[in-house]
Amino acid sequence: MRETDINTSHPYKVLIERGILGSCGQLIRKYCKAAEKAETAVIITDDNVAALYGGRAAASLEEEGFRTLVYTVPNGEASKNISVYGEILEYMAREHVTRSDMIVDLGGGMTGDMAGFAAATFLRGIPFVQIPTTLLAQVDSSVGGKTGIDLKAGKNLAGAFCQPELVICDPDTLDTLSDRVFAEGCAEVVKYGVLGDEKLFSHLEQTVKDFDREYTISRCIEMKRDIVTVDEFDTGLRQLLNLGHTLGHAAELLSDFSLYHGEAVSIGMTVVSRAAARAGICSEECAARTEALLKRFGLPTECSFSPKELFEVMRSDKKRKGSSISLVIPKSIGECEIRKMSLSEMQIFMEAGLEELPEDNGDVGTAVRAEDIGTGDLGAKA
Ligand code: GLY
Repeated sequence: MRETDINTSHPYKVLIERGILGSCGQLIRKYCKAAEKAETAVIITDDNVAALYGGRAAASLEEEGFRTLVYTVPNGEASKNISVYGEILEYMAREHVTRSDMIVDLGGGMTGDMAGFAAATFLRGIPFVQIPTTLLAQVDSSVGGKTGIDLKAGKNLAGAFCQPELVICDPDTLDTLSDRVFAEGCAEVVKYGVLGDEKLFSHLEQTVKDFDREYTISRCIEMKRDIVTVDEFDTGLRQLLNLGHTLGHAAELLSDFSLYHGEAVSIGMTVVSRAAARAGICSEECAARTEALLKRFGLPTECSFSPKELFEVMRSDKKRKGSSISLVIPKSIGECEIRKMSLSEMQIFMEAGLEELPEDNGDVGTAVRAEDIGTGDLGAKA
């Protein structure tokens, strides 16, 4: 079993092994101090995951003596709203769940975010364990303590930082994902390769969908650990994890969420890599390799929205501070930097990335140069 320690303000372990879902009760008893006195475990899951894995998780928890309750919400991001969140809290109150009991999230990023937020706020905070069952949740959202729900005005607008007690990753659960959901997780994996690990990126180029799951998941988590232990509350270095997300979030919103998050990030990473190549910040080869790998995972790399539509949404990005925005820009495969720039600089820079790179690897043009963009990086490098 691979174990990674996440030494945030509340430290915890991430365990990765094929088949460990069936021993989640034992692992929770063994690794969660907070579970010592817990009598009730509330599994929060969605209807797809409940049918596939709910029984196995509940049986393991019951074997360890937990009174096990299962709260199921409809699959899909639309469930991550204030009314479903409120119903979860009301349900736990009716079931007399106490502060020494615990929530067990079983599912993808949607249930993970909402179950975590319920745990952060119910009775002013109860322990929770993440059992992510999608690739996106295993490599990214289950670690680092971001929890929350969507508001009508936008995604993740209500939330809290709250670290779990334990994360249990069973790569076998990826076998039942649709190709599209698996591929969107691959976008986040490619993101980690570009951010900080050329070796991981090359492994993905060599194996594509047949990558070594345990190695890949644990490398992504190690990189996330290195970032969130330095910047748990997202005030600087953690912004690196937003590679591809500024334009990605805009495209996701404009598509009315018909684009999945990972698909939108794939488009965002392609655009920012091309823009970086055109500005001479990374090589053209770096941008071309990123785009080619994303395409091999079956991910979209072109944006159907006009620059005008995209920039209007990007201007209201919640990461924006006053009249400037921090953009994560690749320098090479395995190294990125954060540059703070004005909104108009960002627009000029990104517009260059909305056009495809020339097929013949010829001159990428000089629409804008590195030295003309931003007030310099923030010293944050992956
Ligand atoms: N998923 C980005 C973060 O955890 O900061």
